[in-house]
Amino acid sequence: MDDNPVIETSISTRVLTPADVKAYRSVRLRALHERPPAFGSLPETEPDLAETAVRLAESMDRCFFGAFQVKRLIGIIRLSRYEAINEKHRAYLAGLYVLPEFRKRGCGRVLVSQALHRATMTAGVRRVNLTVVTQQKNAIRLYQSFGFRIYGTEHETFIKDGKYYDEYLMTLELNANPL
Ligand SMILES: CC(C)(COP(=O)(O)OP(=O)(O)OC[C@H]1O[C@@H](n2cnc3c(N)ncnc32)[C@H](O)[C@@H]1OP(=O)(O)O)[C@@H](O)C(=O)NCCC(=O)NCCS
Repeated sequence: MDDNPVIETSISTRVLTPADVKAYRSVRLRALHERPPAFGSLPETEPDLAETAVRLAESMDRCFFGAFQVKRLIGIIRLSRYEAINEKHRAYLAGLYVLPEFRKRGCGRVLVSQALHRATMTAGVRRVNLTVVTQQKNAIRLYQSFGFRIYGTEHETFIKDGKYYDEYLMTLELNANPL
């Protein structure tokens, strides 16, 4: 039997704003409680609502995207650009998470696609990097389907529930993007 709720309308995505702060923080906290862990960050050190709202304000260098089922936020991702003047040709993806009950319906794909579209459209960005916990096979497969390749492994990146976790370093070249 399928325990997932019936999806009656398609998923939509858009850039998140400070007005989405409560929904975003709630999804983010669920992400940080995921087991086995998908993220090293700890729920107790997650910024409070006020600080999260400040972060959600879109800037030249950082943007959060959300996937919605009707009006409910069900998935999130962040695209950030490296800040140093001589590193701005790189961006990184982080925080990809889809609520478990809404997975396997294309939501993760549409979020990665949106974020990569933004990266491609940003003049000067020619590479997107990310890190992913080596156990997160679904995420790794999803990233690989966009052309990301693993270029290294960072061992024992973090510890959760008494266990050490490794992360793959992944990268994608945006060939078409001019300087
Ligand atoms: C990784 C993650 C975001 C993927 O989200 P998702 O919404 O399930 O992703 P998608 O639905 O786009 O794709 C996942 C799979 O569902 C399949 N799928 C998509 N639509 C489908 C549909 N309508 N029916 C059946 N399968 C479908 C895809 O083909 C894909 O299959 P594959 O994994 O065998 O290649 C999600 O599993 C997650 O949140 N994981 C925990 C957090 C995590 O690991 N984040 C990465 C941090 S770096």
